[in-house]
Amino acid sequence: MYKAIQDTLTWYEEMGVDVTLEEQPINHRLKPVLMEAPKAQPKPQPQPQAIITVATPVPQDVGTPLAWIEKARKAADAANSREELRAAIEAFEGCSIKKTANNTVFSDGVPTAKVMFIGEAPGASEDVEGIPFCGMSGQLLDHALSMIHLIRKENFYITNSLFWRPPGNRRPTPEEIAMCKPFVEKHIALIKPKLIVLVGGTAVTSVLGGNQAISKIRGKFYDYTNEYLDHSIKTTAVFHPSFLLRSPGQKKEFWFDLLKVEEFLGGV
Ligand code: URA
Repeated sequence: MYKAIQDTLTWYEEMGVDVTLEEQPINHRLKPVLMEAPKAQPKPQPQPQAIITVATPVPQDVGTPLAWIEKARKAADAANSREELRAAIEAFEGCSIKKTANNTVFSDGVPTAKVMFIGEAPGASEDVEGIPFCGMSGQLLDHALSMIHLIRKENFYITNSLFWRPPGNRRPTPEEIAMCKPFVEKHIALIKPKLIVLVGGTAVTSVLGGNQAISKIRGKFYDYTNEYLDHSIKTTAVFHPSFLLRSPGQKKEFWFDLLKVEEFLGGV
């Protein structure tokens, strides 16, 4: 019995179910006819005549994804410093992944650095610590970057395309990426790095747009700009370290790309 429960929990975890949202499980496969019939409503009783002032109900702001993207844009527009941007992101309620996350994960490293790394989204360790890239893939990234003399506490800045962990580390949805994009754009404009390094395909989608494969984009340099910038910023992309943990055969390409980053930074 105990083993069966443990196997079920392990299976849930492998399928990405690592948070519970309700006290009781809901069986969505039950046909409506099998569900408990709604209780009969008591007949309204005649009310004594009196003058009652009823407050007008305030319409609830459920918000469509488009409305939330607009709200994110307005909030990003209004943020004039990193602290204000962080506060705006922490106050933003448009992304449902915030509800299951423990922390808003904003950034780490040196804000005045020449290079800004942008990853995908926090994972389990990042969600607990509130620091981007502090888990296994972050350790691999930090180690690789130290080989080109980039040290998090000294000379690079790091953030993500999303600020909350998607449950079970699932891939972020296009809506989630779009809602966070105004914040990412403003973040870039506030840091104004000389080089942006996009870490993995989601960061490429968030910053450069489109759905181009990381294998096609990586290792090349692009001129990036957005509505908050008055100049373009050189931008390149590398494989995500969690992909390298699964496919170590691709590390060679990753190394070549990092050498190009080193060469570029040597000239600015
Ligand atoms: N992967 C990311 O893209 N970002 C993190 O912060 C951690 C893992």
